[in-house]
Amino acid sequence: MTTVTVLGAGYVGLTTAACLAYLGHQVHAIDIDIARVRRLASGHIDFLEPGLPEMIRYYQQAGQLTISNTAWRPLTSSEAVFICLPTPAQPDGRADMTAIDAAIPQLRDHLAPGGQVVLKSTVPPGTHRRLTAALARNDIAVVSNPEFLREGSAVQDWLHPDRVILGSDAPDHSRRVADLYHNITAPIVHTDPTSAELIKYAANTFLALKITYGNMLAELCEHLGANSTDVRTGLGHDPRIGYQYLQSGPGWGGPCLPKDTRALLAVGEQSSADLGLIKALIHANTHHQHRIVTLLDQLLPGPLAGARIGILGLAFKPGTSDVRDSPALPIISALAARQAKVTAYDPAVTNPVPGLTDHITHASDAAAALTGCDAALLVTEWPQFAHLPWRTLARAMRGNTVLDTRGHLDADEATRAGLRVHVLGKSSWPQPDLQLVRARGSKPA
Ligand code: UDX
Repeated sequence: MTTVTVLGAGYVGLTTAACLAYLGHQVHAIDIDIARVRRLASGHIDFLEPGLPEMIRYYQQAGQLTISNTAWRPLTSSEAVFICLPTPAQPDGRADMTAIDAAIPQLRDHLAPGGQVVLKSTVPPGTHRRLTAALARNDIAVVSNPEFLREGSAVQDWLHPDRVILGSDAPDHSRRVADLYHNITAPIVHTDPTSAELIKYAANTFLALKITYGNMLAELCEHLGANSTDVRTGLGHDPRIGYQYLQSGPGWGGPCLPKDTRALLAVGEQSSADLGLIKALIHANTHHQHRIVTLLDQLLPGPLAGARIGILGLAFKPGTSDVRDSPALPIISALAARQAKVTAYDPAVTNPVPGLTDHITHASDAAAALTGCDAALLVTEWPQFAHLPWRTLARAMRGNTVLDTRGHLDADEATRAGLRVHVLGKSSWPQPDLQLVRARGSKPA
């Protein structure tokens, strides 16, 4: 058993702390947010993450995990310190390193001789070397070890990673961190620190690229009268391509993909490398988000101004209450700018959403969101939306338009209930030209 400190009790830090305890280590988690630490002490976790609250409670009660806000003291007795501090985007896209920089003096002064600093936060390439220089402690090993945790399956991803990346200039340093992960079966990639840091940005940007490619094909399918699900299946059978991250939707969002894509672009702009592809990617994602509003406008028989839109889902994906950079935000803002009236329901998002408070009415369930609306718009594919009582809902709706951005609703049942369902990437109405639908007042045949 090793004594470990985890700096930061956000979703990466808490997951790391709980999983390190699960591996048998003695763990101290530190967070400067006193209110958050108090909530954690009473067993409350600020975000939805399956399995994590139970693990946190269990290891706290077992005395194997402590969470505090004051204690730099644990550092002196820890053999390893995992840095899981936030690196949010600045307005220009660069990562804000304030939290990590603020921790450096304490690490320098309190780290036990021979200790290890494990850099888990997502950071710009070059951070490891800058941190090592700032620490100015030759007796300490600094190792880059980026995380690849998805919200909603963070514990599973931590305990069963696809790979473990260890970046350091000394193989011995990386091996010591690998020892902390005993019992984790995964390929280990030993590399230099800068490559390790770049791998994280490159992975998230590649996922974003792949999703955007799927969204581009979906848009094309609508114009050609093709079926994007079949196209995806046809592509996915090729193991060089694969099925995952080609599911069309209202653009990618969340706390990681948008932030890391912009951060990679910012890194590129400081060099002479041509990152035009990333610029195009960000532009395309904005297009795919705004396209939802354009499509809705085309599908509605009447004007968007004054129309009532019932939105299903606000979180950036199901299984989380996180609305950071959720595609729902720009879509709802654009709808509000066009004077549409929005009622929304999300099973996990019940508090007011920053920036949207004036634009939406929160409904208590899907039926309440859709009652009296001219169009239903599915944004987040929560499992409970897959089988809604469309016969009842159709009677409660004022109009008959349904736009399913995820191909998730029971479109057959909704159609049988008399609704006109458009699924992104499919031409479900008599086509070929959606422009025909634009003719105001005339519903498509
Ligand atoms: C992502 C990475 O997957 C993870 O490895 C990294 O550590 C953190 O960032 P996360 O932000 O939790 O994880 O979300 P993810 O499940 O990857 O989804 C990101 C976005 O892409 C969501 O908005 C999701 O709806 C969208 N998406 C995903 C699609 O639109 N289509 C897909 O096929 C897959």
